[in-house]
Amino acid sequence: MTDALIARAAEILRINDLGHYTVPTHGLYPFQWNWDSALSALGLFHIDEDRAWREIETLFDHQWEDGMVPHIIFHKQDEGYFPGPEVWGTGRTVPTSGITQPPVTGFAVRRLYERATDKAMARRRALALLPKIARWHDWFYRARDPHGTGLVAVIHPWETGRDNSIDWDDAFDRVPTDGVGAFQRRDIQHADPAHRPTQEQYKRYIWLVQRFRSLGWDNTRLHDASPFRIVDPGFNAILLRSCTDLADLAEELGETALAGDQRAQAEQGLDALEGLWSDAWQQYLCYDRVTEALIESPSVGGLIPAFAPIAPPRAAAIAAHIDRLGERVTYLIPSHDPAAPGYDGMRYWRGPSWLIVNYMVADGLERDGHVATAQRIVADSLKLIEVGGFSEYFDPFTGAPCGGPEFTWTAAMVLEFLKREPVASG
Ligand code: GLC
Repeated sequence: MTDALIARAAEILRINDLGHYTVPTHGLYPFQWNWDSALSALGLFHIDEDRAWREIETLFDHQWEDGMVPHIIFHKQDEGYFPGPEVWGTGRTVPTSGITQPPVTGFAVRRLYERATDKAMARRRALALLPKIARWHDWFYRARDPHGTGLVAVIHPWETGRDNSIDWDDAFDRVPTDGVGAFQRRDIQHADPAHRPTQEQYKRYIWLVQRFRSLGWDNTRLHDASPFRIVDPGFNAILLRSCTDLADLAEELGETALAGDQRAQAEQGLDALEGLWSDAWQQYLCYDRVTEALIESPSVGGLIPAFAPIAPPRAAAIAAHIDRLGERVTYLIPSHDPAAPGYDGMRYWRGPSWLIVNYMVADGLERDGHVATAQRIVADSLKLIEVGGFSEYFDPFTGAPCGGPEFTWTAAMVLEFLKREPVASG
């Protein structure tokens, strides 16, 4: 069984490999996506080490001058996706979107380096990527934390990677839709509309794109000008894990100044993250920077911080929280608490389980000694594949496959679960 899963996962990576980047899945997502690439590189590593580095290098070839790394790179024309480059209008030679995604590359590059069999090659490539990743992290703290709180905000739901989470339903309701003309969605031609965001949400996604475009994609203005400014604990935790991993890697490679900067950023962010902890929910919560209030919404965004080096009592509380969820669902980790209003087990980020989230949370829990919880998450992830195939996401009760099929990062995570060296516990 294991061999068959590995073979199928490798085949999916090959099917979605366009040479110097992978598409998440053909049809639904025909371009390069930011955090998909970083996480998929970990799976590619098990097939072709050189190719794994290339995936991340391609992403950084399209880094903006201000340091941002865009969430989509439109390497070639494809009519099958909306909104395409003409809607974004970012004016780049190789078109890109104008927003970003969870910065997981610091973590991924450190892991690629640690595992490398050809250390000289890995050293050369890591050294070239280090300053670029650091520049992206610096951009976050400059552009998305302009008032120096230690935490960064996202200005579009697509930036979080958890596009239609219940977490920002109220905040998103405040985004207007006036001036958004008729458009034809393509996603619902590739996937079941019941698994996807609603039309109302799409209008707001597009309104924000138009607003930012009207400001010339000038990141010195976008944060304060956006009516949607959410501090997502999961997003911040990914950034903080990447900062600490980048610091460790930089130290190892003798780049001590860069290491010091990244470490200082991480320490400040980890302190600030404490402000998002909720004793009542036993997890972190999102914070709405416009209304200046925590958002009482129990989603996996508040559990992802287990990935970052958070304080031991917080990690233990998250492990216990996930154990309790595990008594209520068949397959961990639901993206939203099934008992909470708005839960929808097949609709994208409003309930389904995602393997990439499982991977990051299990990684952190294992590191912090919560091995049984991590093992349950990994076991559930592999069962999901057996029940639902290599889908984009899964119903946490039935394991039914949702979204797109033959999904790159799902396959990459399966390779990771089955082929990686276990992370030492303790
Ligand atoms: C969806 C997901 C996002 C992912 C993208 C490509 O937009 O919500 O996290 O990066 O698809 O797979």
